[in-house]
Amino acid sequence: MTQSPAPRPPLDPERLAVPVGWRVEVQEETPSTNAAVAERARAGDEPGLVLVTEHQTSGRGRLDRAWETPARSSLTFSVLLRPDVPATSWPWLPLLTGYAVQAALADRLPDIALKWPNDVLVDAAEGVGRKVCGILVERVETPEGPVAVVGIGINVDQTLDELPVALATSVSLETGEPVERTGLLGQVLGSLHGLQGLLDDVESLRRAYADVCVTLGRTVDVHLPAGDVRRGEALDIDATGALVVGTDDGTLTVAAGDVVHVRPA
Ligand code: BTN
Repeated sequence: MTQSPAPRPPLDPERLAVPVGWRVEVQEETPSTNAAVAERARAGDEPGLVLVTEHQTSGRGRLDRAWETPARSSLTFSVLLRPDVPATSWPWLPLLTGYAVQAALADRLPDIALKWPNDVLVDAAEGVGRKVCGILVERVETPEGPVAVVGIGINVDQTLDELPVALATSVSLETGEPVERTGLLGQVLGSLHGLQGLLDDVESLRRAYADVCVTLGRTVDVHLPAGDVRRGEALDIDATGALVVGTDDGTLTVAAGDVVHVRPA
């Protein structure tokens, strides 16, 4: 028999630490916070909007996957940003977001790390790890110019039965303790807000990111958008944030695609 989780308290907006210049709205139920924030941006909402939902019912993941979570079990939210950086630095935003989330969770989860480009994993130094957070950054054109919708889904309180795949986990499953979501949301927002400036110095960001990216040095299968799979060794992150993979047929530079860590023999 599966055990039901204990009743889950709602987020408490009164106690939330909101970064300067940002404004937070909490909704009871939302199909997708990314879709909702994109719509709001097109309708004229200014950057700094943070939309959080207690229950995301039709969330979007990377590569057209779904991201749905039981009510009050997670942190599912999107932040509207307009990075004031050259177009060449925009591809760094998804990586920066992963870096900011891992930094915010590192106190609670000491073995947290990033799989390129921005899966936040625990216990991934040697094995394949367990995913605790997914990130989807989408560029949206508005009459005032392009904006970024930064979508973050953190598995906070899910039980094993509530996780969608075997290689997922939640913060409370890892720590063995209940997690107070309002405080954690404030930490993650503070981390993202505080680290945004790294987009102005992508070489510093590249070094900081590479330090916590467990993909580097690993054998990986790269699933390319066209459907091909190429195996090689992840050698580096280049100046654009792309993953450089050494294969038997030469060097492959991967700007988009899915990377799977190959389990060591
Ligand atoms: C992934 O596939 O790993 C990315 C998952 C991103 C999920 C978040 S939850 C909040 C935001 N709204 C969405 O519809 N998706 C993102």
